[in-house]
Parts: sequence; structure tokens; C-alpha cells
Amino acid sequence: MNKKRILKGDILFSKNKEELVQIKDGYLLVDGESIVTVCKTKEEMPKDFEDILVEDYSEQLIIPGLIDLHVHAPQYTFRALGMDMELLPWLNRYAFPEEKNYKDTEYAKKSYQVFVEDLKNSATTRAGIFGTIHRESTEILMDLIEKSGLYAYVGKVNMDRNSPDYLIEETKESIEETKRWIQESKEKYKRVLPMLTPRFVPSCTAELMKELGQISKEQKLPVQSHLSENKGEIAWVKELHPETSCYAEAYDEFGLFGNEQNTIMAHCVYSALSEREMELLKQQKVWIAHCPESNMNLTSGLAPVKKFLKEGICVGLGSDVAGGTKLSIFSAMADAIRVSKLYKLYVDEEEDILTIPEVFYMATLLGGSFFGKVGTFENGYDFDAVILDDSKINQKGLTLFERLERVIYYGEQGMVVKKFVKGVEI
Ligand code: GUN
Ligand code: FE
Repeated sequence: MNKKRILKGDILFSKNKEELVQIKDGYLLVDGESIVTVCKTKEEMPKDFEDILVEDYSEQLIIPGLIDLHVHAPQYTFRALGMDMELLPWLNRYAFPEEKNYKDTEYAKKSYQVFVEDLKNSATTRAGIFGTIHRESTEILMDLIEKSGLYAYVGKVNMDRNSPDYLIEETKESIEETKRWIQESKEKYKRVLPMLTPRFVPSCTAELMKELGQISKEQKLPVQSHLSENKGEIAWVKELHPETSCYAEAYDEFGLFGNEQNTIMAHCVYSALSEREMELLKQQKVWIAHCPESNMNLTSGLAPVKKFLKEGICVGLGSDVAGGTKLSIFSAMADAIRVSKLYKLYVDEEEDILTIPEVFYMATLLGGSFFGKVGTFENGYDFDAVILDDSKINQKGLTLFERLERVIYYGEQGMVVKKFVKGVEI
């Protein structure tokens, strides 16, 4: 099998947050797992690609795979239900009762198969995924993702306080199960890695968080959690940790907030209200997963995404299913723009709204940076790409930019014809 390939089509990718490269009838040159370059014409191609067959995707869009930085796999079963509630009652009414079912590995297998199949059929190539507190079911989820060809960080969730009896762990048990899960999964997979997942501060004791911080440091494991999503939640964290000046400090004091260990914090809707929290996000290089649909569905609020971008904070997009109702990151891009307009209208009229190049950059290169050299078509980046047949919504005279804009607002439904993740067609 030849390692080199050439894909011809209508190519779009981000260089940075302002610059969206658009090449009609361009050539994407690949070598094994990596991107070599993009050429406008055959004449521009390097000599060692002269004899390589061109795979023709003319009239179709070729873009980097999309990144979902925050999604709850077990919640896919109740997506689009309970969308008239606020976060904390919704967790008690929907999320917790459903997550308890994953104690049963047969239930987990069936449900996770549907989730992974749908994620595979979407335009998403990589994701940061929450499981449940159950080690065995989380390993089933990891097996399924590995088989699918997708690339992901997956977390066994930790919860040892303020949770219902049917979904809580003893502190010791939580730590032991986490260690065992890491041992069993850290080197088992090529495309799936474990990620420490304290659910959020209210559901984890100081003792547990301290231990998780230690494990993260010793085993060099990344971390994912929720931060400053909802006003009631923030007040609760303040009550639980009066020693802190902001929510982020309640993770940071236990070594669960960026620096050497890459960390994703979902939401950060109210982070800009605290100078200290903004400073920690920025200086300790924490990735924010902005989940605009979830923030509307759960009455959480309007996140200051444009501010994060201006501050140089890495802010990607997340579906947050089932706070969000669907896996589409194109939909998340459209929702991010909508939310930025509401932010301007109702929070800060001086703020600018998000642009198409910005949300595309967040969904590809900026979110992708969590996974390494991922999310664009520059030399040396991983070959993650999606080919989209947009012929049903394309019409004569539309520019590549306009075609992309329309796909963002429609979502990828039925348009994904091929998908590559780290050089492998899946
Ligand atoms: N905070 C703690 N748990 C959750 C969850 O499952 N979903 C969301 N959106 N926020 C949370
Ligand atoms: Fe979430």
C-alpha cells in the first residue's frame, strides 16, 4: 500500500482565527498519518507526488475533522428530553437516574454502540468524552471507540459527595477503581486514552480531588471537568470551599487545573466575572469547551467567548450532549454565533460578535490543539479530514465560504462521504 495520497476537491482550513484558506479544485497531499501540503495546481506538487493517483472529490468539500471537546456518552439515550429545566434539577431528574443504568454492562454496551455509531457518522473526528462512575462500562466505551477509528480521551467519572445513593462512590473505592481503570486502559489502545474526570466540585470531596491531582501528576494524565456553568452551582461551590476566591481555585488547590497536565473545563459561562479565574485559565493554559446549545437548554447563560479569544485562551466547542441535544459540531458553530449576539445584546454591547472564520477555527485548529498537531492542513499536522457532499444545498455561484456557511447552519446530516482520522479511513 502506498503511503502517499492526493485528494482533490474544494479545500477549506484555518490558518489562525482570522484567516480561513479556501482553495477551489485544490490538492491535499498526504503521507501516511500526516499532511504534507496543499497545492492549488498539479504543477505546484512536489516531484515525489508526480506518480501518485489523484483521488477525485471534485465539487465536494474537504475540511479538517471537527473536534468535540465535551460530550457525555451515557446521556445520549435521553438527548432532547427535559429541555425546559435548569442544570441542577435536570441533573437530578434526568442525568443521574440514567447514568445509574451503566452499572449494567449489557445496558452500557447497547447504549454506547448507538452513541459511537452516531459519532462516527458525524463530522467529528476527535472528542473529550465523559463516561459514568462505572469502570467496566467505561472500558466498554473505550473498546467501542478504539474499534470505530475515532480518536478520544475518555473519563471514568468520579463522584463521592452530594450525589444520590445509587450514583455515589466511597472515596477509597473511587480512588482504587480509578487507579485500576488507568492501569487497564493506559496502554491498551492506540486511539483512546484515559482522562481523569472529577464530575464537578460539588460532587467530589477535597480528599478525592487531592488524590486525583496526585494521580494526574504522577501518571501525567489530562483532566476534564465543568467550571462556572450556572449561578446556583457557583454559589454552592463558594459555600463548599469558602477558602477560595473563585471556582477555578477549588480545582487548582488540588492540582487539577492545567499547567503540565492538559485540562479541559466545560462552559466557563461566568469565568470573566472573576479576574483571578481568567488569570488561572490563561496562565495555566486550560482549554475551555464552549457548549452554546447546552448553555441555552439548561438556562445556564451566555459565555463571553469573544473575550476568551481576545485573551488568547484556547476555547474549543463542545456538544455537551445531553445538555446539548445533538452531536453536530457544525450546529455548535452556528449556536456559538447566535449566543455571541445575545451576549452583545444583553451582557456587553461593546463586545463584537463571533465570525464564521472564528467558530470554524475553534471547532478545528483551536480545539484540535488539545490533541497535538491536529485541526488544520499545514505541513506536519495529523491527517484528520472530512469530505462533505453538499450538492443538495449547493447552488451555482456560491463561493466556498458561502457553501461552508450553509453547511454550518444545516449541520452535516447525510453529507459526510468519507472521514480520515490520523491517516486511517474510518
Ligand atoms: N455539571 C455536572 N455534571 C454535569 C452534566 O452531566 N452536564 C452538565 N451540563 N453539567 C454538569
Ligand atoms: Fe457537561
